[in-house]
Amino acid sequence: MHCPKHLVVLVSGNGSTLQSIIDACREGRLDASISCVISSNPAAYALERADRANIMCFPLDYRKLGTERYNFNLENILSAISPDLICLAGYLKILPGTITRKFDGRVVNIHPSLLPKFGGSGMYGDRVHAAVLQSRETQTGCTVHYVTDEVDAGPVILSRKVPVLPGDTVETLRERVHMAEIEAYPEAIRIALEML
Ligand code: GRF
Repeated sequence: MHCPKHLVVLVSGNGSTLQSIIDACREGRLDASISCVISSNPAAYALERADRANIMCFPLDYRKLGTERYNFNLENILSAISPDLICLAGYLKILPGTITRKFDGRVVNIHPSLLPKFGGSGMYGDRVHAAVLQSRETQTGCTVHYVTDEVDAGPVILSRKVPVLPGDTVETLRERVHMAEIEAYPEAIRIALEML
């Protein structure tokens, strides 16, 4: 029997990468459906995107709950839903070892650089692009990788290169990397699902 795979997507902000997964599922580029979206921030625009696509949402308030209760709730939801794959999409919290170990090989993340360059704790968003410019790199890109106990250091599923052009600013670089991310994430999720 044909059985689409189930994803859970974890978000914290705008949700542009969530949108790329929603679109890929809807257009049949991914043989999967999103069971629910969990947000660490109840004001995240990603929740509106999920709502518009009729996807169940769990807006958890990290700031109100605190790390321990937040992670307890998160793990309970993930265990109850037991998705095939957990996709971090602009998710700004570090997953605790209890979750990465329980879902070993079933959690993926997208990072806006060519890992292992410009990865690790505290390297996210515009900080990454600023560091790339400051180091005078001639190319950057994005990387989709499995999530392990070590931040941004799990096995790579795929990466996409993007040139750094003369006169680039954080904004222009962010935009160019973002275009690559929108294509790369659904493709990497398709590969990860095939490997299950
Ligand atoms: C992307 O740069 C991605 O690499 C990082 O978060 C950014 C996208 O955020 N993990 P969002 O999906 O628009 O919230």
